[in-house]
Amino acid sequence: MKFPHDFLFGAASAAYQIEGAWNEDGKGITNWDAFSKIPGKTFEGTNGDVAIDHYHRYPEDIKLMAEMGLESYRFSISWARIIPDGDGAINEKGIQFYNNIIDECLKYGIVPFVTLYHWDLPQALEDKGGWINKDIVNAFARYAEICYKAFGDRVKHWITFNETVVFCTLGYLNGAHPPGYVNDAKKYFQATHHVFVAHARVIQIYKSLKQYGEIGITHVFNPAYGVDEKEENQQAAFHANNYQTFWYYDPILKGEYPTYVIDALREKELTPDWNEEELALLREMAGNNDFIGLNYYQPARVIKIDEPAESIAMDRDKSTGRPGNPSFDSYYRTVMMDDKVYTKWGWEISAEGFMQGLRMIKDRYGDVKLYITENGLGDEDPIIEGEIVDVPRIKYIEEHLRAVKLAIQEGINLKGYYAWSVIDLLSWLNGYKKQYGFIYVDHKNNLERRKKLSFHWYKHIIATRGEEL
Ligand code: BG6
Repeated sequence: MKFPHDFLFGAASAAYQIEGAWNEDGKGITNWDAFSKIPGKTFEGTNGDVAIDHYHRYPEDIKLMAEMGLESYRFSISWARIIPDGDGAINEKGIQFYNNIIDECLKYGIVPFVTLYHWDLPQALEDKGGWINKDIVNAFARYAEICYKAFGDRVKHWITFNETVVFCTLGYLNGAHPPGYVNDAKKYFQATHHVFVAHARVIQIYKSLKQYGEIGITHVFNPAYGVDEKEENQQAAFHANNYQTFWYYDPILKGEYPTYVIDALREKELTPDWNEEELALLREMAGNNDFIGLNYYQPARVIKIDEPAESIAMDRDKSTGRPGNPSFDSYYRTVMMDDKVYTKWGWEISAEGFMQGLRMIKDRYGDVKLYITENGLGDEDPIIEGEIVDVPRIKYIEEHLRAVKLAIQEGINLKGYYAWSVIDLLSWLNGYKKQYGFIYVDHKNNLERRKKLSFHWYKHIIATRGEEL
C-alpha cells in the first residue's frame, strides 16, 4: 500500500530550538531566554541565544527541506517576536520574519503547519503570573488573532499549543522548565485549565474569521500500560491514563474533564479556580477542533506504589523523560523494564505501544482526525569517514511509519506524520548532544549543514509514498 494522496509527510521544529537571534529585530525576552541562563538549569548551560541560527539561515534550511521532498513543515512562532511584551505593541519585523518563512515554504510547495505556542512565553507575561494568571487567556487570544490575520491567507493548518502536559509538569511540579515551581499541584492544574480555555478561545476566534483552514492542538501521546496483569498495576495504568492523557484530551474533544480526576481533585482541594463561563466555552468548542496532533516518543510502563514517594523535585536527568519518577500524588511510578529496548537517554522504543495507544484514542474519541506531529529518535549520531550514518534513526522512524500505515489500514483517521526533527536543534534540557534531525549541524564548523543518511532515506520514502514500508 502507498500512503493515501492526502497524507502529509513532514518534519518539525520549534522556534526557541532553532532560531537564535534572541534579542534581534525587536524580539522580546522570553521565559526560556531568562531561565536557561540560571546556572545549572540546562545541560552544560546551553541556551537558544544562537541555537542553529535558523533566523539568518532559513533560506538554506528550507531549500534543504525541499530537496528532501518534504511535503509539510511544522514550525512554531515565537510570541515575543510578534508582541515583545506579550500584550502590547506589535513588532513588524517579527511579522516579516514569519512571512519570509511561510513564503519560502510555499515557493517550494511545502505546506506550513504552524504552532502558536511551543513553550517560549514573553517574560513580561511570566512576570505577571504566566499561565496562572487568568489575564493570559486574553493576551493569548489577541496574539493568536494577530497571527491569523497576518498569516492566515497562506497558513491553513494551525496548532494552538504544544504538549501542555510537558510544560505544565516540568514548570509547576518538577521545576525543570520555567517558571520552575516544585511540587505545586494547585498551580499545575490551574495552568492546565487556563491553557484549555485559551485554546477554546482561539478556536472560536479562528472559526469566526472564516479563513477555511484547520485548527487543533498537539498533545503528548504517552499511553500508560501496567507492568504486568496484576489488578493494582492495571489500576495504576488507568490512573495514569486519566491524569496524563484524558485530563488533556477530554476538555478539548469532549468539552469536559474526566470525572475520575475531578473527584480526586475535589477531595484534595486541588480543583482549579474555574467559572461557569469558562466551562461553557470548553463545552461549546469541543466539536470545533479539526484534529488532534500526537507527539509520540514512548509509552509509560507503570507500577502501583504504596509508600509515600520521595519529593518529585527531580534532578535534570530524571526530568528528561527517563522513567523512574513517581506520579505527583504518589499513586504510581514509571519504570524501566528488562525486556524493553531503550534509547541512550532511557526512552523506550515501542512501535507496538504506539499502535495500541492509537486504538485507545479511537475507542475513546471515535474518528477524530489525527496527525503525528512529532516522532523520532534522540541519539548521538555515528560519524564514519565523514558521513553521518544515523541508521538507528532510520530504523526507529521506519518502525513507527509502519505502525502509522497499519493504523490507517485499520481505519484510524491519520492524515500526516511529522518526524522530529527536520534538522538537529537545541534540546531544551539536553543541549546539542542529543540529535534528532535529518540534517546535521556542525557546531565545530560554523554551524555548517550536512545531509545525514536518514535525509536520503526519508526522501526515498516520501518519493515512493511509503510503498515499501
Ligand atoms: C517534545 C518537544 O517533547 O520532545 C520538543 O515538543 C522536544 O520540543 C522533543 O525537543 C524531544 O525532547 P528532548 O528532551 O529529547 O529534546
